[in-house]
Amino acid sequence: MLEDVATLPVDALVEVGQLLRNDARADIIDLGIGVYRDEHGRTSIPDVVKAAELHLFRTQESKAYVAPDGDPVFVEAVRGLLLGPGRPDATMVCVQAPGGTGALRLAMDLVAHAAPGAVVHLGLPSWPNHAPMLAAAGLRIATYRHYDADAGAFDFSSMCAALAKAAPGDLVLLHGCCHNPSGTDPDAAQWQQLASLIANRGLVPLVDIAYQGLGDGLESDAAGVRRLLDAVPEVFVAMSCSKSFSLYRERVGMLLVKTPDERAAARVRSNLQSLARLNYSNPPDHGAAIVRTILADPRQTLMWRIGLAAMRMRIIGIRETLAQNEKVDLSFIGRQKGLFAMLPIGAEAIETLRRDHAIYMARSGRINLAGLNDANIDRFVAALAATLER
Ligand code: LMR
Repeated sequence: MLEDVATLPVDALVEVGQLLRNDARADIIDLGIGVYRDEHGRTSIPDVVKAAELHLFRTQESKAYVAPDGDPVFVEAVRGLLLGPGRPDATMVCVQAPGGTGALRLAMDLVAHAAPGAVVHLGLPSWPNHAPMLAAAGLRIATYRHYDADAGAFDFSSMCAALAKAAPGDLVLLHGCCHNPSGTDPDAAQWQQLASLIANRGLVPLVDIAYQGLGDGLESDAAGVRRLLDAVPEVFVAMSCSKSFSLYRERVGMLLVKTPDERAAARVRSNLQSLARLNYSNPPDHGAAIVRTILADPRQTLMWRIGLAAMRMRIIGIRETLAQNEKVDLSFIGRQKGLFAMLPIGAEAIETLRRDHAIYMARSGRINLAGLNDANIDRFVAALAATLER
C-alpha cells in the first residue's frame, strides 16, 4: 500500500526550519518561522506562564479528558479577550481547539459539511497553510490580490472588487490583524466598509486571528473582528494563543461561530463536538489550563499584558529602525503591523542571502521581524543592500 505513496511538497515555512537545521554556521539570522524572539534571539517562556505551570503542578488533581468542545472556563476567558467584557451571546458558539490551525480546520470542516464545495475567497499572499487546508477540507478557492507589493500597502480596492463579485453564501477568509505575511491590515474605516459589504452581499467571514496584541494592542487588534460580528449574521473566528501567550507547541486555540439564532447555535455545537471527537477526541489541556490560570488572576493578567506590550514595542522598534536605515528603502515596513513584512526580492536574492550571508527567510520574501536585534540588524541591512546591488 505504501510503496507508491507520493512525496508531498513541504510547507514553505516548515522548509525554512529544515534548511536551518542543516546549517552549522554560527552567525545565522533566522527570519523564518513566525515565533517571537527577544533581543537575544530567544523564544523564552514568560514568567507568568512558568508561574501558572507551577500553580497547575501544585493544584491540578487529574489529567482525565476534557470534553470534545474543551474547557468552558478557558473558552469564556479567551472569548472575553476577543470580544471584550459584557458580550455573552447565546447565538455564538465557542469551543476550544488545538491551536489556531485546529480551530481553522474545525471551521472549514463544518463549512464543508453545511455547504459542500463552498467557495472561499482568499486574498494573496496569505499564510502558506491556508490554501492547502481549504483544499483538504474540500472547499473551493477563489483568489484576489490583497497586497500591492510596489507600494508595500494593503490593496483595499482589489479586495472590495473581488468581494463585490462574490456570490451570496461564499466565504471570505480574512486575517483579523497583523496580516501574515504582508503586515498590512484594513484601517478602522475600511473594516467598517468591509463589514457592510460582506453583510450586504450575504458573504460569510472566516477570520484567522493569531497575533492579537502584537499590532496596535489587544483592543485595537480585535476591532475588525468586532465590527464583523456586529454587522454580519454568520461569522467564523479562529483564534490562536500561540503568539500572544508564547505557548506555540502547547496548541491553544478557540473557534467562535456566530449563528443566526439559538437553535442554529445548538446544532452547530453538536457538529463541532462531533468533528472534534472524530479528529482528536478532545483538545489538549495543558496550554489552555495555563491561559485559564493567568486570566483568572488579575495580577497575573496584568503581568501578561505588560509582557505582551513589551513584545509589541520591540517589534515596532525594529520596524522603525528598518524604515529609517539609509542603505536600502524599507520605509514601507514602518507603516505596517505585526511580526511580518515582505521584502520585494526574488528567489535569487533570497538564495544569495542564505548562501552568502546566512540569512534565512521564507521563499515568499517574508521576514519575521522579531529575528532581528541590535546585534544583527546592521548586518542584515548591509547584506540586503549588497544583494540588491549585485
Ligand atoms: C508562521 O506563519 O510562521 C506561523 O504561523 C507558524 C506556522 O506554523 O506557520
